[in-house]
Amino acid sequence: MLLKVSPSRSLKGEVTVPGDKSITHRAMLFASMAKGESCIRNPLVSGVTRTMLDAVQFLGVSSSLEGNCLWINSPGLENFTPPPQPLNCKNSATTMRLLAGVIAAAGIPAVLDGSEGLRRRPMGRVIEPLQQMGVLIHASESGGAPVEIMGRSTERNLKGLRFESPVASAQVKSCVLLGGLAANSPVVYLEPALSRDHTERMLSAQGVDIETTWEANRPVITMQPGGRSHLRPLDVTIPGDFSAAAFLMTAALITPNSEVVLQGVGLNATRAGLMATLQEMGGEIEVIRQWDEAGEPVGDLRVAYSKLRGGKVGGRRVVEMIDEFPIFGIAAAFAEGTTEVAEAAELRLKESDRIRMICDELSKQGVRVIEKTDGFTVFGSTHIPGGGIAESHGDHRLAMSLAALGLNTQQPVFVRGAEIAAESYPEFFQILQALGAEITTLPDEDIGS
Ligand code: S3P
Repeated sequence: MLLKVSPSRSLKGEVTVPGDKSITHRAMLFASMAKGESCIRNPLVSGVTRTMLDAVQFLGVSSSLEGNCLWINSPGLENFTPPPQPLNCKNSATTMRLLAGVIAAAGIPAVLDGSEGLRRRPMGRVIEPLQQMGVLIHASESGGAPVEIMGRSTERNLKGLRFESPVASAQVKSCVLLGGLAANSPVVYLEPALSRDHTERMLSAQGVDIETTWEANRPVITMQPGGRSHLRPLDVTIPGDFSAAAFLMTAALITPNSEVVLQGVGLNATRAGLMATLQEMGGEIEVIRQWDEAGEPVGDLRVAYSKLRGGKVGGRRVVEMIDEFPIFGIAAAFAEGTTEVAEAAELRLKESDRIRMICDELSKQGVRVIEKTDGFTVFGSTHIPGGGIAESHGDHRLAMSLAALGLNTQQPVFVRGAEIAAESYPEFFQILQALGAEITTLPDEDIGS
């Protein structure tokens, strides 16, 4: 699909953002571990979350969507059936890494596989701790999927461990904690900075004894043994996805005369780093109402067009906005002065090499950028030529970000492969259009004006 996004007059209106992708993934999986019936309200039903739902079906879990509630019916972790075929995690690394932990805790054999893109993503980071816990598991020679789990080295339980992760990754942390539900001693997990903590919040709400303390500025997550016997079915409402709101937030900030209200946005501090960064750069973003949902802070945001200044991002802030760099690159392109991103090498291991792709795609539209090993520098301008064909590279976040770029360039921006946005935000382009964006769909290869 080729999308033409033209310079737009303004964005105005109110939008309720879809359910959070990370929390939906977890709710689906954690509900599957609990014996009985769970209700997940306001789930994100999109490409990647369907992948999780399809995968757990092969373990004996059934589900149905009725109105706003996704019902999950499960025989429970202890009664999972070994899947008769490889579980296809398609493009979803969250599905693969979190499922690996759950399969390990269930003590059943399974093969986890996925798309070519997913096969390129590193799995050693979850295999190593699982092996230390006594899981019989290996990856392909390249260190990626397919991942084969053959069961465990001891009869009934896995071993607890103290694991110091070199990367701040919620997928790795969640995998270790989920495997640890079947451990006979505590699981202690350290990471360089606190990655999104939805797993800790949700497991604790399900009855698992888990706490976070701090050691020399590093988070230490400690989970007591016996977790699997506590898991209760869920009755939960999923907060709106900050990462989905991020595209609309930035679109409003860069499109002159815009003012939008984003409703029900998850504001967990481990996720909302982009908002803090954009505010520091002069972005007018205001929390106009705040409450709690599913143990998470949630709020309504008012965002207005702003003249942004360049900024610097590194350290812990990188972790708190890890999924937001494609759209942050767009904000930086319109900011006055220079914006520098450092200590963000992890971006090269996402759905695409996001450092390379952000730099390549921005420079194609006339933005001056410098690619660095662990980040990039953007030289902002209010007059960005545009006019080029942007490629999504099969990355949903890149597709939505490049569309936002076209809202304020001199010439339209054409986004090829834009349909990949449906992996995490199926209605994104319609919503942007309803707010006032000038977007048309062209027959593939037709870039006529
Ligand atoms: C996710 C964690 C992050 C993030 C991904 C979702 C999760 O990945 O990029 O979109 O739901 O746990 P890492 O844990 O690899 O940083």
